[in-house]
Amino acid sequence: MAPISALAHSDPPHDRQIFDDIDAQFQLDDSKLFKITTQFLEDFRLGLNEYNHAMAMIPTFVTGVPNGSETGTFLALDLGGTNLRVCEVKLLGEHKFTLRQQKYRVSEALKTGEATALFDYLADSVDAFLTSSPLSPTNAPANPFSTSALDEIDPKQNDALPLGLTFSFPVEQTALNMGKILTWTKGFSAKNAVGNDVVKLLQDAFDRKHLHVRCVALVNDTVGALLSRAYTAGGCMLGGIFGTGTNGAYVEKVENIAKLGDHPARKNGGYMVINTEWGGFNNSRSTLPTTPYDNKLDRESINPHFQAYEKFISGMYLGEITRNILLSLIDAAPKSLLFSGHSSTQLNTQFGLDTAVMSEVEEAWQSGRIHTSHVKAVEGGNAIEYEGVPAAAGAQIVAGEPNTQDVYFLDVNSYGASDRARLEKIRQVIVNRFGIDAQNVSLRDASIVRWAASLVARRAARLSACSIAAVLIQTERAKLGGGVTPKEEHIVVGVDGSLIEHYPRFNTRLRASLRTLVGVEVEDRVDIGMAKDGSGVGAALCALQAIKQGL
Ligand code: BGC
Repeated sequence: MAPISALAHSDPPHDRQIFDDIDAQFQLDDSKLFKITTQFLEDFRLGLNEYNHAMAMIPTFVTGVPNGSETGTFLALDLGGTNLRVCEVKLLGEHKFTLRQQKYRVSEALKTGEATALFDYLADSVDAFLTSSPLSPTNAPANPFSTSALDEIDPKQNDALPLGLTFSFPVEQTALNMGKILTWTKGFSAKNAVGNDVVKLLQDAFDRKHLHVRCVALVNDTVGALLSRAYTAGGCMLGGIFGTGTNGAYVEKVENIAKLGDHPARKNGGYMVINTEWGGFNNSRSTLPTTPYDNKLDRESINPHFQAYEKFISGMYLGEITRNILLSLIDAAPKSLLFSGHSSTQLNTQFGLDTAVMSEVEEAWQSGRIHTSHVKAVEGGNAIEYEGVPAAAGAQIVAGEPNTQDVYFLDVNSYGASDRARLEKIRQVIVNRFGIDAQNVSLRDASIVRWAASLVARRAARLSACSIAAVLIQTERAKLGGGVTPKEEHIVVGVDGSLIEHYPRFNTRLRASLRTLVGVEVEDRVDIGMAKDGSGVGAALCALQAIKQGL
């Protein structure tokens, strides 16, 4: 929380000081971003050289990326967040696929109970999916990851339905179809799972239920994003998830993965996809810019001191950091600084403020108007870019009114009519979604909530750029600070996750920081695209590679 002394003022100039102090804690100047990126590179090196580092740099045994010509029908199971999904994926070749899926909710009891109960539930879900609509027969897949034929498939092995498992937690893989769970993240803590082989846990559950399904491959969602974007785009160097959790997987030279020692995979040379598990970057927080609001979150989480970077960035946590800021303002003494001192059940409950609600607040603000002086480009009467970032669709230019860019956010009385209308929209979101009584929410409160949400989200986007920049530098496509013209015309990155897909301006904020870190020449060429259905398609592609390897 903010230092108690900082909250013990009541007159407006001191109010402003309190807000400015909080604001300052969330600002990351460019030199800090450079420092964090440098630390990332150092931790990449450590993780590639030795096992047991928090940023685990896990070899995935995926040694190539698809080119879009692969075909076949596969079952995929995806566990990694709120929902569990079972999919039928048909790889059609020519960069195309179809996917049929069913979602199943994973209750808190399953997340935190016995692992066998969780894995039985996974098996039951697959059973339910197959019963409701049986899978089409598996085609003989062709051209697995650029080899031309699938002649080594053993029909005896192949009579059970091959399934690819996307398991989006840290797993120390020892083969494409084998890996021990290192730790749980994102609110999971099922007992008797850590240290066990996740493929075996699942296969045992299938066998207990006499299901004719064989788990042939294990893949992280980041690897899935990388593979599926490669499938649709014809190549990809990084898969990133910015959703409930965060992580990235990239293509590394095998010679750089020293910890593989004399493993046959190392002798073969070439490339291998590395699952960085960057959510665990800097767990000591020596470099990450921690605040009292972050510390409170960490202390109360089910995994204190773990997944430090993830806790600054991902959808599971941004709402909670914002909630912590808002509570400190509600509780400020001797005079409350928010909602006239009123709170609500949502605000009083851990994780009671969803990141999606922050997103609604920012959306309400973004979809308003902007002042002419900030507009750099106009199309059809609408501003399309301002201050170097694209404006929200349909943003109108209103001349002659002061703009909030020029007015301190607490001085709402100086706002023009259209900005006050935007604050009114935010006020509605607060009433409807925070559960605060309308009479206790002023426009000033709305402005404070918007400020808090954007502080937290902007820091998340800036920090996210550091991991992407570090991968570009690690793979020799960029230098810190710029000055390199990469060979490739397009540096393809596949991403997925609610933050990057839906949070207003997350992507533009991230890109602006990436430009600072690697220079405009490189940033211009980075093609960040959604890896839609990455988990399902990635699991299917891995299952294909596993079958090809005779696993
Ligand atoms: C997990 C990763 C996963 C990421 C995104 C993190 O909490 O440790 O394995 O890729 O979330 O889902």
